[in-house]
Amino acid sequence: MKKCSVVFAAVIAVLFMAATASFAKEEVCVKCHRAVTPLLVKDWQASMHSENEVSCSNCHGSDHKNKKNANLAKMPDEAICAECHEDQFNQFAKGKHNLGWTALNALPVTHLEPDELMEGGKGCGGCHNMGIKSEAQKKELQDKGYTYRTNSCDECHTRHTFSKKEAQDPKACQLCHMGFDHPQWEMYESSKHGERYQMKEMGRLPKDAAAPTCQFCHLPSGTHTNKVAWGFLAVKLPLPEDKQWAADQTTILKALGVLDPDGKPTARLDVVKAGDLARLTAEEWNVEREKMVKTCKKCHSERYARTELEKGDQMIKKADRLMAEAINVVADLYKDNTLKKPEHYAYAYPDFLHFYQTGGSHIEQVLFKMYMKHRMRTYQGVFHANPDYSYWYGWAPMTKDLDKIKEMAETLRCKTKTCKTKK
Ligand code: HEC
Ligand code: HEC
Ligand code: HEC
Ligand code: HEC
Ligand code: HEC
Ligand code: HEC
Ligand code: HEC
Ligand code: HEC
Repeated sequence: MKKCSVVFAAVIAVLFMAATASFAKEEVCVKCHRAVTPLLVKDWQASMHSENEVSCSNCHGSDHKNKKNANLAKMPDEAICAECHEDQFNQFAKGKHNLGWTALNALPVTHLEPDELMEGGKGCGGCHNMGIKSEAQKKELQDKGYTYRTNSCDECHTRHTFSKKEAQDPKACQLCHMGFDHPQWEMYESSKHGERYQMKEMGRLPKDAAAPTCQFCHLPSGTHTNKVAWGFLAVKLPLPEDKQWAADQTTILKALGVLDPDGKPTARLDVVKAGDLARLTAEEWNVEREKMVKTCKKCHSERYARTELEKGDQMIKKADRLMAEAINVVADLYKDNTLKKPEHYAYAYPDFLHFYQTGGSHIEQVLFKMYMKHRMRTYQGVFHANPDYSYWYGWAPMTKDLDKIKEMAETLRCKTKTCKTKK
């Protein structure tokens, strides 16, 4: 009994010391910041961190202690989160999100665009901030005067609430998965799945009604590793068995500059490998497909799920037919010298990875949009159960693009011919 109370008192004393120590540590930062950044402090106070005495200095260090040396405050990268959340960090490190920054920097176009939009995070870099940066990458940011944006975890668990509930909501994905070339948010929101989720949230449907979120399908069972079978570019190796489809995917790989116009691999194949931009073996692709089927199976029959996903594969194949035809029309213009090779191109062949850069021809812009906007929407819409996106914003404009490209090619040829006869 006596022994017990001694232990009890000791425990209390230790707890008290720990509490006062962390309270004292907290006080200096929190007290001053209550005046400097009052609502930021409130945000932190609403967090599990505040409840668990994880305070400002745990993440920002304690070198900065007054108004004059704010530059000494450290901006916490993911490694600091990993000190207490190792599992999530390790899962994240294995996923595709961890390659966002690498993928961005692998493109030739990135280094020719304004810094503000890249490292500054106001354009491409705003979404591609995802990914643990190397020391060299961090230094590059700092040298350009950008001291923030060193943390990927707070893209879904926004600072300083760092909430789990927030990250579980599909809205946490909206900022990046929307718009021009990957409108998953818009497609999901107006799909049967998304509608049901919203009605459930509003209380129109029972609390336990089946309605998958983005997270349910893409970060199942709380994992932080994300990857799908096809991925963004929707090309894969080995090429499909169907001969025509294989030829069409080859044409697309040429326009991505992964293969040269003769079909030989270029240095960009290494970029694809480094950024995991495509699944390069049948096994790799199958693993991800099977994971997805397993998820669908929680609500649908296996046969239903497979049939629905195969419709997506088939639409990639059909979209690729139109796409390859369009690429070949433009490639032929280079062949017969109607179009001249832009200076920044490696080959006299369309190059999708140069985006909207100046120097390209108008017909290539139409071709680029056909690939980047309309082909994407065609298959992404099927995979996200959104009929409107797959047809009116995807397939239909693709057919129109092809017509336009053929018409423009004809006009261009006539123009050059006229010029020749004039001479
Ligand atoms: C005496 C007041 C005071 C104290 C104490 C204080 N800060 Fe600050 N802190 C400031 C001021 C002022 C700024 C600059 C705000 C601005 O740029 O408007 C600042 C800025 C910061 C920044 C942002 C730096 C940047 O580059 O944007 C961080 C992070 C920060 N403080 C964390 C802390 C931490 C952690 C502690 C405790 C170890 C702390 N502060 C203690 C006043 C204080
Ligand atoms: C769990 C870790 C964590 C804790 C605790 C934390 N911060 Fe931060 N803070 C971050 C992260 C992450 C960033 C963004 C870093 C980046 O963008 O590179 C950040 C950025 C900041 C910034 C600069 C950006 C801005 O929005 O102005 C300030 C100021 C800041 N924190 C102050 C504080 C203060 C004051 C506290 C305590 C009340 C605190 N932080 C507690 C993780 C934390
Ligand atoms: C010093 C340890 C420590 C550090 C550093 C830390 N955390 Fe935490 N974190 C905790 C504790 C303790 C909890 C509450 C208990 C739990 O859920 O594990 C927590 C909870 C969380 C939660 C769950 C919140 C909820 O609503 O349930 C998230 C998300 C989170 N932290 C993210 C981060 C991120 C992101 C960073 C880095 C910017 C970070 N943490 C840094 C200790 C830490
Ligand atoms: C609104 C946010 C956002 C902006 C802005 C943005 N991206 Fe992306 N990017 C994404 C998302 C999200 C994906 C993944 C889409 C998918 O898989 O459907 C992606 C995919 C990519 C990929 C393919 C990655 C892979 O593994 O397949 C590359 C490369 C890329 N983006 C480069 C860029 C470049 C270069 C820019 C600017 C010219 C840019 N992005 C602008 C969000 C964005
Ligand atoms: C793409 C969005 C996203 C990113 C980025 C992200 N998380 Fe999460 N995180 C989630 C989701 C969703 C959950 C909820 C999982 C669940 O339902 O159990 C979660 C949950 C957590 C939890 C709470 C775990 C629990 O079971 O209580 C912690 C801690 C956490 N994340 C830390 C991190 C850290 C550290 C990073 C950066 C390495 C990170 N997260 C990056 C989406 C994200
Ligand atoms: C019912 C499950 C489900 C939901 C909900 C869902 N997705 Fe998907 N998603 C898929 C499937 C299936 C694929 C295609 C997988 C493949 O390549 O085989 C996919 C593919 C993707 C891709 C890769 C490019 C593409 O579109 O094919 C991204 C990025 C993506 N989803 C993000 C999201 C986001 C963000 C949300 C929420 C706004 C979301 N998804 C909601 C099932 C889902
Ligand atoms: C800050 C921007 C951002 C947020 C927020 C974000 N993502 Fe992403 N996501 C990206 C980028 C960038 C990529 C492409 C990265 C790459 O592959 O290089 C991507 C890729 C993906 C992919 C494609 C993986 C593949 O195999 O091609 C899926 C699936 C995905 N994200 C799901 C989600 C989900 C679910 C959420 C919300 C919980 C989410 N993302 C939140 C930026 C974001
Ligand atoms: C959490 C449960 C759940 C999961 C997981 C789920 N679904 Fe559904 N899905 C539903 C419900 C409920 C409906 C509405 C009833 C219906 O139309 O079958 C639905 C409807 C659909 C529809 C019909 C859309 C329409 O416009 O009528 C398709 C297609 C579909 N799901 C495909 C999939 C695929 C493919 C997966 C896996 C990638 C999947 N679902 C995962 C619950 C789910």
